[in-house]
Amino acid sequence: MCGIVGYVGPREAAGVLLDGLSRLEYRGYDSAGLAVAHRRKVTVRRTAGRVEDLRTLLGDAPPPGRSGVAHTRWATHGEPNEANAHPHTDASGRVAIVHNGIVENADALRGALTARGVVLRSDTDSEALAHLVAEALDGGAATLADAVRTALAGVEGTYGLAVLDARTPDEIVVARNGSPIVLGIGDGEMVVASDLAAVVRHTQKVVFLDDGEIVTVRADGIEGSTRIGPTTVDTGSEDYALGGHPDFLAKEIAEQPDAIRRALAGRLDTRFATARLGGLEMDPRELRGVRRVLFLGCGSAYYAGEIGAGLVEQLARIPAAAEPAGEFRHRNPVVDPDCLYVAVSQSGETADTLAAVQELRRKGGRVIGAVNVIGSAISRECGTGVFLHSGPEVSVASTKAVTTMGVSFAMLAVLLGRVRDLSVADGRRLLDGLAALPRHVEAVLADDAAHGTVAAVAQRWAHASSMFFVGRTRCSPVAREGAQKLKEISYCHAEAYPASELKHGPLALVTPDMPSVVVVPDDELLGKNVGTIEQIRARGGPVIAVTDAELPAGLADAVLRVPRTEPELAPILLGIPLQLLARHTAVALGRDVDRPRNLAKSVTVE
Ligand code: AGP
Repeated sequence: MCGIVGYVGPREAAGVLLDGLSRLEYRGYDSAGLAVAHRRKVTVRRTAGRVEDLRTLLGDAPPPGRSGVAHTRWATHGEPNEANAHPHTDASGRVAIVHNGIVENADALRGALTARGVVLRSDTDSEALAHLVAEALDGGAATLADAVRTALAGVEGTYGLAVLDARTPDEIVVARNGSPIVLGIGDGEMVVASDLAAVVRHTQKVVFLDDGEIVTVRADGIEGSTRIGPTTVDTGSEDYALGGHPDFLAKEIAEQPDAIRRALAGRLDTRFATARLGGLEMDPRELRGVRRVLFLGCGSAYYAGEIGAGLVEQLARIPAAAEPAGEFRHRNPVVDPDCLYVAVSQSGETADTLAAVQELRRKGGRVIGAVNVIGSAISRECGTGVFLHSGPEVSVASTKAVTTMGVSFAMLAVLLGRVRDLSVADGRRLLDGLAALPRHVEAVLADDAAHGTVAAVAQRWAHASSMFFVGRTRCSPVAREGAQKLKEISYCHAEAYPASELKHGPLALVTPDMPSVVVVPDDELLGKNVGTIEQIRARGGPVIAVTDAELPAGLADAVLRVPRTEPELAPILLGIPLQLLARHTAVALGRDVDRPRNLAKSVTVE
């Protein structure tokens, strides 16, 4: 949520900063700006709108200078206009800051600054930081880093911060507390950013800042402690490029077979018919000691957790559930020492999930992560867990990460099951099913590419003002995720219901104008789901069935088929046509599929 870039080196900074901002735009796209230092002066350019608007504003005359900071914003405090866009400066224009996170005591800080005669020019919590750093410099701080340290001493909240001072243009100071900052070590230059996307185009040698660190960055190195030493990341700039796809959502949907292969690599223990999840750091005795599993996540990660809970309950026969992390953290939960808590997050930055993990750790709960981004706050806070290995996800709508969450939870469930009563035969059956998943996903994608199957369904109902998504038991979360994806990127209203709930109220809304997407796995409840479809159609409601079963001819108005898989794994596969349906609908309606209105990729604020 919001993106930061900074540069110090021999090149003109503005070009590097603009390029970095475009790569970070998925984190926020309400407004953008940059500040560049040159001849003991800082020039700031900002605009409401997107990075492209900033590029247009700069035109052929970007401000000169070889160091600078830049920002793309997702508004929290104050509307997305130019005044609230970052960078913010102090009154003299000497200090420019870009900030991610929330200053929780902003009102008090702004009040105190006003009382000291400072005129505030924005509604943001961040602006106070620029004034506080300038005050510390005026008050005699020996270095910019010292001034930042003094300023931050009075700040409550979270920050990823980059600071530029006109009088020391050969350095920028960065600080981190709860909001990521990564330093890219180039050849005689340094790029700092809030995530790898803006860095890997220049270098793959990076340092992830740790919470509490304040570091001075110059072209030739870093000054100040970095607790986590340099590492070389295997992510390349092509991971953040469209590579011929029309949008990142299309790319990430298409990457799922490989993402699943990576998630499974080295983890299927066919000899003992179990999963190998070394990152959990739990021996069989500890695995047996788990009496309950609770998955915690937000949005799609929460729905993936619901799929995980279903898998654990079926395969390990222990109670399992999922809960929105943002609810859990605020309800003073009873923490059960025999429960395994699983924090689920693509970004590893989501504020509510991180806070839930911290609450659990404070209360002595055992929490593991199921996280995509290595080195992220949640993965570090958990210490142990399962990395998803889905590769970077840029589109705001999560697809390949959700799929690899399902795959990872299936492995976790097999592992927990095999130290209990899951038989060798069932273990093997599920491992085979998992190994076959990439091929099955390929088949679904190839069918849509060749025959436009899902695209045709999307075209037919794209203008429906509302849609139902219906699923039963293990596929109820599939329906929830399908509805979420559709509303997120197409803005079509969608509501998900467990199939058994329809007749208790929602059926009243079924008319010929209200299509229902019904998820129908080929499992023990097939007959019941066929009955649900008949009930909807009896009321004139169109039905789109998503299934791996052979349905009676003419049962549904449209059928989206996936290959037959093991019933327990069907929720993972049946989600794929729903991703395609959402994307095709959004495209048919002319939406910006990668950057839906009001949203941003990582929700690092409450
Ligand atoms: C998914 O399409 C959404 N953009 C959103 O619900 C997301 O899954 C949620 O914000 C959690 O993000 P995380 O996985 O990075 O924690």
